[in-house]
Amino acid sequence: MAALKLGVLGSSKGSNFRAIADAVARGDINADIRIVISDFEDAGILTLARERGIRAEFVHPGKFRTKMEPEREQHLAQLLRDAEVELVVLAGYMRMVKAPLLEAFPQRIINIHPSLLPAFPGLTAWKQAVAARASKSGCTVHYVDSGMDTGEIIARAEVPVLANDSAESLHARIQSAEHKLYPAVISQLASRFSR
Ligand code: GRF
Repeated sequence: MAALKLGVLGSSKGSNFRAIADAVARGDINADIRIVISDFEDAGILTLARERGIRAEFVHPGKFRTKMEPEREQHLAQLLRDAEVELVVLAGYMRMVKAPLLEAFPQRIINIHPSLLPAFPGLTAWKQAVAARASKSGCTVHYVDSGMDTGEIIARAEVPVLANDSAESLHARIQSAEHKLYPAVISQLASRFSR
């Protein structure tokens, strides 16, 4: 079966990308990471990609804070298309995805969110969980639609919220769960989507 061609988008340190790339390198995911793109020129995820010999590109987001300017998102979509990407993986990509990208990859964009969706969508979900005194939290992999963390849920992993948890300690526990769940889900999708 052909390896599924992935494009990864991220804005930050890239620990989920690292987990995915390591799983691909071990042969646990039948995929080929064709390109990594960030909206931050100095994002750790770009450095991690370059260290692995994976093409890494910065796309300037333009003047908005929460989304890309449409023509810049169009350019990003074209980079993914030119790289023959079949599944777009958001790994800490901190902008809303809009029509240019959604229409280029219908039902082929996935995201990981640090809560048990539909609970605690949006920013710093782990802080929301601690503030709400939730007894459990976790992470969710879902398809991306035009809403904020509203797309169809693919899989979730639970972690406990402990009585003495700080936002930071809970976030670390959730991230450990993310690093297992995201590669496992991508591996399943690679089997399903590959020809
Ligand atoms: C993760 O916690 C993920 O759930 C959220 O952004 C964070 C990215 O972290 N969407 P990293 O860059 O993968 O380390």
